[in-house]
Amino acid sequence: MTCIHIREVFAGPAELFHAAAEEFVRTGQAAIQQNGLFSVALSGGSTPRALYSLLAGEYAGFDWAHTCLFFGDERHVPPDHPESNYRMVDEALLSKIRIPAANVFRVHAEMPDASACAAEYEARLRNFFHLAPGQFPQFDLVLLGLGTDGHTASLFPGSAGLQEQSRLVIANWVEKFQTHRISVTFPVLNQASDVMFLVSGPDKASIVRQIVDGKASPPFPAQDVQPQGRLLWMLDAPAAANLDHGSQP
Ligand code: 6PG
Repeated sequence: MTCIHIREVFAGPAELFHAAAEEFVRTGQAAIQQNGLFSVALSGGSTPRALYSLLAGEYAGFDWAHTCLFFGDERHVPPDHPESNYRMVDEALLSKIRIPAANVFRVHAEMPDASACAAEYEARLRNFFHLAPGQFPQFDLVLLGLGTDGHTASLFPGSAGLQEQSRLVIANWVEKFQTHRISVTFPVLNQASDVMFLVSGPDKASIVRQIVDGKASPPFPAQDVQPQGRLLWMLDAPAAANLDHGSQP
């Protein structure tokens, strides 16, 4: 299946996040109708918080009982730490919707050994998706953000994790933060049925333009997300400000 590549630019954050919520619900309803279940890998950072809040508010009636939420990456901190992606998702979404606890697959990032944490999460993914050795999970939807350095999930430029082609989940050493981040790998991202990049704000305009230009060598990590299914870049106008009309990330 070739990757279908769509870019949509919205006037501002409010329009972007409403469109993203609609896309989430549409994708979820289709997955539940087809397979009886909707598997999503959530992104962290600050951008998606507004989406999660919307999903908890206007879309709280979504079929969360048939939705399983995973994390595309997590900081190597306990779940109550200010930097924890789980804590952000719990505050914005999980604490406000009726979703069975068994449907939420938190990364146990309180584990002191980051590699053991990654291996444990990988084992849970293998179990949930009933994977044979060498197989990768196919999430119905993977949400991703974009760092100003072109990273996505916790796959940072120059990090060892960029080369990982066998494991599903790694403890990726991030030099600039002097810490490990737990992250799914490119084979997992690129196995997804749908990948949705959510990019908002003027501070992303430069990296978005560099990605669209496609001249960086090596390419930015976000450029290596080329999923089996649909690749949807959703940006607001400030993030797309440096793009020529009609150009594609
Ligand atoms: C994380 C995310 C990361 C994020 C980008 C953008 O754990 O931080 O997974 O990949 O999406 O860093 O972050 P902002 O949305 O905060 O700009």
